[in-house]
Amino acid sequence: MRIPSSTIQEIQQAADIVEVVGDFVNLKKKGKDYKACCPFHNEKTPSFSVSPQRNIFKCFGCGKGGDAITFVMEIESVGYVEALKYLAKKYQIEIPEEAYQPPTDEELQAQNEKDSLLIALEQAKVFFQQQLFETEEGKNIGLNYFKERGFQEKTLKSFEMGYSPEAWEALFQHLTQKHFKPAILEKAGLVIKREGKDQYFDRFRDRVIFPIHNVAGRVVGFGGRTLRKDKNIAKYINSPETAVYQKSQVLYGLYQARQAIRQVDSCYLVEGYADTVALHQAGIENVVASSGTSLTTEQIRLLRRFTKQVTLLYDGDEAGLQASLRGVDLLLEEGLQVRIVIFPAGEDPDSYLQKVGTNAFQTFIQKEQEDFITFKTKLLLKGVADDPFKRAQAIKEVVSSIIKIPDAIHRMVFFKACSEQFRVEEQVLISEGNKLIRQQKKFKNTTQKETAEVQKLPDEKVSEDKTTSFNTLILQEQESIRLLLHYADQPIDDTRYLVHYLLEELGDIQFETPLYQEILTIYKEALRRGEVLNADFFIQTHDNPAIKKAVIDLISDRHVLSEHWKEKKARIPQKDEVLQEVTYTHLMRLKFRFVQKMIEENKAKLLKATNDEEQERFLHIHQTLKNTEREIAQALGNVIR
Ligand code: CTP
Ligand code: MN
Repeated sequence: MRIPSSTIQEIQQAADIVEVVGDFVNLKKKGKDYKACCPFHNEKTPSFSVSPQRNIFKCFGCGKGGDAITFVMEIESVGYVEALKYLAKKYQIEIPEEAYQPPTDEELQAQNEKDSLLIALEQAKVFFQQQLFETEEGKNIGLNYFKERGFQEKTLKSFEMGYSPEAWEALFQHLTQKHFKPAILEKAGLVIKREGKDQYFDRFRDRVIFPIHNVAGRVVGFGGRTLRKDKNIAKYINSPETAVYQKSQVLYGLYQARQAIRQVDSCYLVEGYADTVALHQAGIENVVASSGTSLTTEQIRLLRRFTKQVTLLYDGDEAGLQASLRGVDLLLEEGLQVRIVIFPAGEDPDSYLQKVGTNAFQTFIQKEQEDFITFKTKLLLKGVADDPFKRAQAIKEVVSSIIKIPDAIHRMVFFKACSEQFRVEEQVLISEGNKLIRQQKKFKNTTQKETAEVQKLPDEKVSEDKTTSFNTLILQEQESIRLLLHYADQPIDDTRYLVHYLLEELGDIQFETPLYQEILTIYKEALRRGEVLNADFFIQTHDNPAIKKAVIDLISDRHVLSEHWKEKKARIPQKDEVLQEVTYTHLMRLKFRFVQKMIEENKAKLLKATNDEEQERFLHIHQTLKNTEREIAQALGNVIR
């Protein structure tokens, strides 16, 4: 692909940074600039800024910045050409025919692999669409099915739906004729290699196709629904995880929904592809699907870029409900306001909409939607009758949800409401909450030695001594890097590897040690590209000798610094939970040291404060930090003086 420089210039001139960024982030005008929470790192207060005058963006938290093209490259982790193509499409700038000459072999090789996967997926989408709209089989079977379900042609087009014929190699033939290499098609999840043979067959056969888009509208995967009634055939087949598709990071329908979500500042969350499409067609466009799996933190953070208000639309069946409720705490934890609507038994949003029509559907949602905690309280109260034991269990359950809410004020509101519903004193609920926090966060497999170590932590003397806490902070930073180098690609729970968990938890913490910060940044950037690095990456491919040396030191056994690490290391690898706990404890220690450092820095400022107002401010910060310090100390399993 060769885009002429005149076209590049045209694109650069047309691309309005506010519009381009605004498609991904909820921008709020502040003076002459726009502000938002940064999409590149996790933060709760906005440090991401867009300047329309200079046509650039800049994050003061993570330091990312650039023009519209850089922004698209970063947020989509695509190359320069793909970013240009995206912007050209957005601004209806035509890229001249000759730029689209079939790529030469070298060009195909030169393009980064992710780009080639995206191109292959794009072509597959076009193929499936052609099958649906232009072939007899597609029209008779696929289109007919969609029509029977009430999906209009306009809807099918905007969700780019398609059909995969009943054949083993239709897509494979089609794309290899277009010079796509089988290995690329396999990596894109489109075809499957026959074991031990140099033969491939299509993953999606004899199904209607729902393409899965990322926020920028690029197809990253597919879901295929069978039209057969045979119970032995899986109802849906989905793309596997690939370099461009991580299930945990995509929400189905978000691309089509994002404008509407921003406009009404709320979003419906449904379970299925069909639900999403049906609601959208009925004019309820602020809807996305979790695609049948439980929500992940990444998905929630993605959604949070557009709105903080989520309404869950759930099927009425009991089994599903119990399972889904567990995922909701994660939403609360991320600071979202959650409401819930339960449909009558046996109905999902799509089927109910078909049954009662758009107006009645809307009314139903308005009438039935309920704040999540209130809903949970009622649901649990229903089951307990007068059994005091069950009642106590129920209270615990609800309190466990409330303590997930990060905002203290919101938390108090719910403690109050819950105290009324249960007719229990608020203070009782709060102390129950505190107890739960302590229990949940206690390190279960604590050895004697570690307990001793933990108990030393909150000692005021330690925090008073600047050099000590500073040194231990560095040790904890080192531990973070060590965990990454050893276990980045180890699963830590059902949805995440250690690298996801650790980086998420670290958020926008900047390491004190430049070298460790550099390594951390490399991990973050790689993860954004969908790659999980291991120690070999640094040893073999990185050209920075200082990093290479540090990594080698950290992975070699003679460099075991902390004593308790040795013991842990011996029993880490088998179980996810153990790894999770080790990481968790480590993170708490790191955060503890980090807060102590902040306290020290703040103290210095307090001493230098020149007027009352300043003094007041630093005192306030001091108190907040002290509270945090105490919370962490408690989480680590003991109480601070
Ligand atoms: N799903 C899946 N694999 C399956 C079943 C379900 O991936 N074998 C996912 C799909 O994303 C599906 C969602 O879970 O959309 C909800 O499943 P279900 O309620 O069974 O399907 P619907 O979306 O309601 O599909 P339809 O209305 O066409 O039956
Ligand atoms: Mn359905």
